[in-house]
Amino acid sequence: MKAVILVGGLGTRLRPLTCNTPKPMLPLVGTPFIEWMLTNLRDQGIDEAILAVQYLADRFRASLGDGSRLGMKVHIIEEPEPRGTAGAVKHVAHLLDDTMFVFNGDVMTDLDLQGMLRYHRKRKSELTIALTPVEDPTAFGLVETTAAGRITRFLEKPRPEEVTTNMINAGTYIMEPHLLDYVPARQHYMFERGLFPTALQNNHAMYGYASDAYWTDIGKPQTYLEVHHDILNGKVRFGLPGQQIRPDVWVGDNTIIHSSAQIHGAVVIGNGVTIEADVTIVGPTVIGAGSHIGAGTHISGSVVWQVNHIGTQCRIDRAVIGNHNYIANQNTIHAGTIISDRCRIASHNHLANGLRLWPNSTISEQSITF
Ligand code: GDD
Ligand code: MG
Repeated sequence: MKAVILVGGLGTRLRPLTCNTPKPMLPLVGTPFIEWMLTNLRDQGIDEAILAVQYLADRFRASLGDGSRLGMKVHIIEEPEPRGTAGAVKHVAHLLDDTMFVFNGDVMTDLDLQGMLRYHRKRKSELTIALTPVEDPTAFGLVETTAAGRITRFLEKPRPEEVTTNMINAGTYIMEPHLLDYVPARQHYMFERGLFPTALQNNHAMYGYASDAYWTDIGKPQTYLEVHHDILNGKVRFGLPGQQIRPDVWVGDNTIIHSSAQIHGAVVIGNGVTIEADVTIVGPTVIGAGSHIGAGTHISGSVVWQVNHIGTQCRIDRAVIGNHNYIANQNTIHAGTIISDRCRIASHNHLANGLRLWPNSTISEQSITF
């Protein structure tokens, strides 16, 4: 079975984390999200995936190659210009000849794909859309169905007064390839505002597959942290790396944790990490490979990527810290701060108010004190 994964977006809302890393390549507990997604698809019977990319395509190629490392076939196909969600699938139509899955590449879900496929076949559906309930549908595509699941209406990004249901398009579709005939070639064209309403008008059999599977859009800084918290708290299936030294603490190889350090789970510490005396780490927290955490530092609810130096007596709460940063002693980093890559922060600063540091930023001593 084949799947197309739409990974063309710029990931603007996640900047500066996405300055050097495409959104689907952002690490989730050390593994690029797309790799988790592909493994999940493979384990659910999809053996061939076509990634429709347009941004930092080389990064996908370098990491995924032809997919053999993951035990599946992966094609990475670059669009000449953004073709939109449906246009992107049309662009790879030469690789598609049968019932296929299509995935938005920025959604994390453990949806039962075989269950969805059975549902699609039983109803002789031509297009089945996974649906999930959300509190506020205005940022998504609202989908109305009959009690039997037949889709009656789409409304992309409804205004608050237009909301009639909390069920939204969850970004997983099963499609029959003939529906791509509606998509104009070599043009920007969307599923949500183009193909879906058009196919509906033409009375094609379209069904919603409602489920209460884990579902979250990883495209916002807040949800990026929340997804980590959900993974560490066991709300979504995820094989955590390292050795489980306590029920809620995982530690990689060659990692040294001082005997006076306190680790309160759920915490994952990568390979080659050094944790000095009197450090406190409170979960859900991830400390990436090759990082050094200085004596007396306190870290809670945070995601720290690889090879970071964090000095002594720092306090870091609910922050995301990218790769290769140097954070000197006695810094306080408050909730909502995002530090991207290769930043240097001298001692005695207070970073707060959702501060976002772009790659290679430098902050001198005591210069920021909110
Ligand atoms: N290749 C390619 N080319 N991919 C694209 C393009 C494009 O031109 N435009 C968007 N994508 C990819 C994005 O990278 C993302 O993975 C997916 O298509 C959806 O685009 P978003 O920009 O993230 O859309 P959205 O989040 O506002 O809304 C969509 O997803 C919601 C669920 O998260 C819609 O499908 C909504 O109806 C849906 O509820
Ligand atoms: Mg999205």
